[in-house]
Amino acid sequence: MKMLITGGAGLVGSHAAEYFANKGNKVIVLDNLMRSKIFGYDKDSVEYNWKYLGKLKNIECIKGDVRNESDVKKALGGGVDVVIHTAGQPGVLASVNNPTEDFSINAFGTFNVLECVRKICKSAVFIYCSTNKVYGENVDKLALDEIGTRYCFKDVKGVNEQMLTDLTAHTPYGVSKLAGDIYTQEYAQIYGMRTAVFRMSCIYGTRQFGFEDQGWLAWFVIASIFDKPITIYGNGKQVRDVLYVDDLICAYEAFINSKLNSGLYNIGGGPDKTISLLEFVEQLRLIIGSHPKINYGEWRPSDQKVYISDITKIKKELSWQPKVGVKEGITRLVDWVRANRQFFS
Ligand SMILES: NC(=O)c1ccc[n+]([C@@H]2O[C@H](COP(=O)([O-])OP(=O)(O)OC[C@H]3O[C@@H](n4cnc5c(N)ncnc54)[C@H](O)[C@@H]3O)[C@@H](O)[C@H]2O)c1
Repeated sequence: MKMLITGGAGLVGSHAAEYFANKGNKVIVLDNLMRSKIFGYDKDSVEYNWKYLGKLKNIECIKGDVRNESDVKKALGGGVDVVIHTAGQPGVLASVNNPTEDFSINAFGTFNVLECVRKICKSAVFIYCSTNKVYGENVDKLALDEIGTRYCFKDVKGVNEQMLTDLTAHTPYGVSKLAGDIYTQEYAQIYGMRTAVFRMSCIYGTRQFGFEDQGWLAWFVIASIFDKPITIYGNGKQVRDVLYVDDLICAYEAFINSKLNSGLYNIGGGPDKTISLLEFVEQLRLIIGSHPKINYGEWRPSDQKVYISDITKIKKELSWQPKVGVKEGITRLVDWVRANRQFFS
């Protein structure tokens, strides 16, 4: 197969690129390497992944912007069989501070890629990286318990795809991602394209350049190893289901290989792979031998107290399930950060 992976230098994109290239597919990576700029970081981040991918077989890296039609058309060439659209502005706070840029990358960028695919290779499978944030504060209407170091849902195991996406606050990020999400669904409805939306919870893994605003697991690991202080917004009992990036890529592959015309899935580690911020700090103490210095701040806008994906639908439709345990995944991330100290010190 020939595949285009937008945002291919990022966490999800670089793992997808390596995985599919290793299987003998021809992979084109399109990225404009703007992750550091988005988060106001003055050093390289995903540039490392870019260089890493450049050395692998079956991968061609093209520097370009998903908002630019000619860049996307160049990357698509005469057409591809699969597009995995991971390029995005992934930060909630960044979206509050710069909603124009957030809209242009997440909403317009997604629309632009869909349109180019429709014009050049309509039969390609299109995978979209959506987010749990499309449900906004509707998630907080679910009853909670507070037990020890965490909050938990009182009456449900997780959030399923029936959760409302409107009549609530989202943050600009939730809105711009929802726009891309609905466009992706619509292109299956109206143009008959094969599209799948993955509403992703917390994804983590090696090659993740975590910042305070995004990629909190990686950020906590980096802070622990380099003795930097972290701020926990709220009381630290917030819970997320966490999914190791390799498991996510397997779900994309399962959809690509399926006979389904379209899909919409909540995906994360599910009820068996959850952790609260306080519990994660404790895990780091056990794995690394130290944990970061913690400051506490006010709750952040639309920060869901608990988000756990109900993965019943995706398990059933795609015969998929997460394999990498939380401790194993964290250990892989810790080992990677330690082996690549030069990027973080
Ligand atoms: N990581 C998570 O926990 C998570 C959870 C839910 C949804 N998502 C979504 O998944 C996608 C991938 O997330 P990630 O963690 O790999 O993020 P990432 O920041 O590591 O990767 C995104 C990549 O997109 C590139 N990019 C940004 N703007 C671009 C543009 N205009 N043109 C071309 N490239 C551009 C960046 O340089 C970066 O390499 C994002 O769309 C994000 O919103 C991520």
